[in-house]
Amino acid sequence: MQNHQNGFQNGFFILFVVIACAVTGRAHGDAAATRGTRAPRSDVARAEWVAMLREAYSRPSAEWPPPHCDPAVTWREFGLLSAVKHPADNPHSPAKEQLGKALFFEPRLSASGEMACASCHDPDLAWADGRTVSFGHLRKPLARNAPTIRNVAFQESLFWDGRALSIEDQVEAVLLNPAEMHVTREHVVSVLSQSATYRELFAWAFGDRKITFDRTAQALACFQRTVVGGHSRFDRFLAGDREVLNDQELIGLDLFRREARCMNCHHGPLLADGQFHDLGLSYYGRSLEDLGRFEVTHEAADVGRFRTPSLRDVTRTRPLMHNGLFELSGVLAMYNVGMVAIKRQAHQHDDPLFPVKSPLLKPLGLNRQDLADLEAFLGTLEEPRRRVRPPPAAPK
Ligand code: HEC
Ligand code: HEC
Repeated sequence: MQNHQNGFQNGFFILFVVIACAVTGRAHGDAAATRGTRAPRSDVARAEWVAMLREAYSRPSAEWPPPHCDPAVTWREFGLLSAVKHPADNPHSPAKEQLGKALFFEPRLSASGEMACASCHDPDLAWADGRTVSFGHLRKPLARNAPTIRNVAFQESLFWDGRALSIEDQVEAVLLNPAEMHVTREHVVSVLSQSATYRELFAWAFGDRKITFDRTAQALACFQRTVVGGHSRFDRFLAGDREVLNDQELIGLDLFRREARCMNCHHGPLLADGQFHDLGLSYYGRSLEDLGRFEVTHEAADVGRFRTPSLRDVTRTRPLMHNGLFELSGVLAMYNVGMVAIKRQAHQHDDPLFPVKSPLLKPLGLNRQDLADLEAFLGTLEEPRRRVRPPPAAPK
């Protein structure tokens, strides 16, 4: 289990390096990166720049300035979220969605009887939990930060390392995981079968009163596929209301696409490529080590790689990254220096598993104004707050 004190020390260590790099204008361990930050624009130059961008971005997105992506990257333009496709073997129905919602808030699905899915994916906290890492069974800290479940319907793989390929499988993994809900299939069936209300809800959703583990997972998956965003100001911008972004946000959008190189990995409707990259945050060989995708594939190239998260609503799902050690300003500062390359220790010289930071990350040389503009753009991805009422009372 992780040592949190250490976690914070490690987080501070990285931030310290980043600040040091920002001050010297050099990326740690990257000899080529000698350029400093670029000079800020004067007010007049900024006004001219905005006028130019307004014109460029008033056109259809196919005519927008192309993003600065490396040739190897197959990027997709930003866009509105499509309608959710429910799988043929788990079609949506209002009854199943409602059952799934009741189950999502149901603490009896955990061995302790006190932890529901919503404990760590709380609608009031953007469907995450606001913690560095979540507390699991018996309040033991888990290894990773809880991601939001909003828009999981559009993810090709689930978890930070992509180890589940369907939401149904993901639900099963969480329920049976001894560190999380810590229940057995039999326990779930037995506890739900004792409730007359659940027997009714299952009959309504599935046509008969039979309560099974697989039906429970299906209902939970069905409900999660209905938790979708798509109501941010950026969505209104994409839908054609180009005045909805203010000047700073528009400059931030253009930075995100071009000078800041974010679109190399954060593109398409989710602002995520569904791929796995090493940003240098694996803490390889240190106490907080997390090998990420490697734990699924056991390929050396996957050490330290994590799935690119969607940036929709990202200003609300803090703290950030798989380890939950960062705030947004720290994340932007790290990208600006091209992320921190961890150095091989003497004993690691021939280590075939030593993680290799993504070559897509480069020092950016952005100034403070640029970083504020980028952050302003990310704020346009916020979803409006909507109160989600848990089911009135746990069904008896
Ligand atoms: C104790 C806290 C906790 C509980 C309880 C919990 N989760 Fe999670 N959830 C997490 C963490 C942490 C992760 C990320 C784990 C990882 O990537 O290795 C996660 C990941 C997920 C993901 C993947 C999201 C993505 O973008 O890949 C989904 C979906 C999800 N949980 C749904 C559920 C459901 C449904 C339940 C109830 C059956 C549940 N969770 C219960 C903490 C929790
Ligand atoms: C090489 C691909 C790549 C590039 C380029 C990239 N990102 Fe990321 N981004 C990722 C991955 C992968 C993660 C998750 C890493 C982890 O948790 O270890 C991430 C995480 C984030 C997070 C945290 C999200 C969360 O929910 O925790 C933010 C914010 C973010 N990126 C913004 C940006 C911005 C802004 C840029 C441009 C300056 C950018 N990214 C460029 C791949 C990339």
